[in-house]
Amino acid sequence: MRGDYLNWPRLVEDALSKWGSVSVEGPFENIVVSGMGGSGIVGDVVKLLALERLSVPVEVVKSHIVPSYVSARTLFVSVSYSGNTHETLLATARALEKGAKVVAITSGGLLEKLATEKGLPVFKTPVGLLPRVSFPHMLTGVLGVLDSSGLTVASRAEVEDAKRQLEREAGEIASEASSLAEFAYSRELLVVATHSPLEPLAVRAKSEFNENSKIVVKVDVAPEWMHNDIVGYEKPLFDEYRVVAFYDPDDQAGRGLVEFMVGEHERRGRRVRVLALRGVNKVGKVLYAAMLFGLASVELALKRGLDPAATESIARYKSAAG
Ligand code: F6R
Repeated sequence: MRGDYLNWPRLVEDALSKWGSVSVEGPFENIVVSGMGGSGIVGDVVKLLALERLSVPVEVVKSHIVPSYVSARTLFVSVSYSGNTHETLLATARALEKGAKVVAITSGGLLEKLATEKGLPVFKTPVGLLPRVSFPHMLTGVLGVLDSSGLTVASRAEVEDAKRQLEREAGEIASEASSLAEFAYSRELLVVATHSPLEPLAVRAKSEFNENSKIVVKVDVAPEWMHNDIVGYEKPLFDEYRVVAFYDPDDQAGRGLVEFMVGEHERRGRRVRVLALRGVNKVGKVLYAAMLFGLASVELALKRGLDPAATESIARYKSAAG
């Protein structure tokens, strides 16, 4: 799987070659991105990138329920790598009933079938990958659809710059990932800590360690952390934990918050690894973090003698959900 992550610049390039191929006509009052797991995180990241860029709100639906504000003025982006995820299909059907304009981002499955039947636009992502590995392709796909629909969250040039950054830095990211895997390989609970608005990147890290390394991870996000979790660390019932904390070096306030969290853990004698996100722009920082945590979680699986690709219990849930 290591090679799959290192191949990300090629995946971004493929998605960039289809930039502009799918657009939807507005105007829109809101954008809703629906999806679960490795597909749903695309919505969280789009919301993060849109935060200081778009005047139209972006919401993420990780459920079979859609919010009541979904209407004919909603751009509903349905993301499912397989195209067969129960919750995403139900949410998409509900959004269609409410008259929303739906775009599908998928490699096929029932979502593509539904889109074909209803004449909905589809951005195709390549078959044969794991959903979590196809993250940069699906993300670039959504960014392209939004840009071509007059809702620019990241421009094509920004994504191209981010892709070149990944190409240049892949070797360095791989060695940072090895050292991070070494740090995470422990009987202590792994905590991933950051500051707002970077929560989606911490959630992505958590999910990668869950799915690839098969471990439980806690996510802590400042400044909300300072208003509740901080007290929980005074007398936790679990014995040991260690922390991977990251911050955006261009956000002074965010960096200060992370430094405060790190200080709290260190004065309790916990081990902490601190990382600064690197990137030519916001998309670059997202891809850097996702590649770093992806590779680290694969390495941790391999150190444990586990298959990083296998996710048996997700398959068990999916066959029970039908
Ligand atoms: C990630 C993964 C899961 C799926 C999730 C939804 O690699 O396997 O998190 O992403 O179960 O499935 P899809 O993405 O096919 O809609």
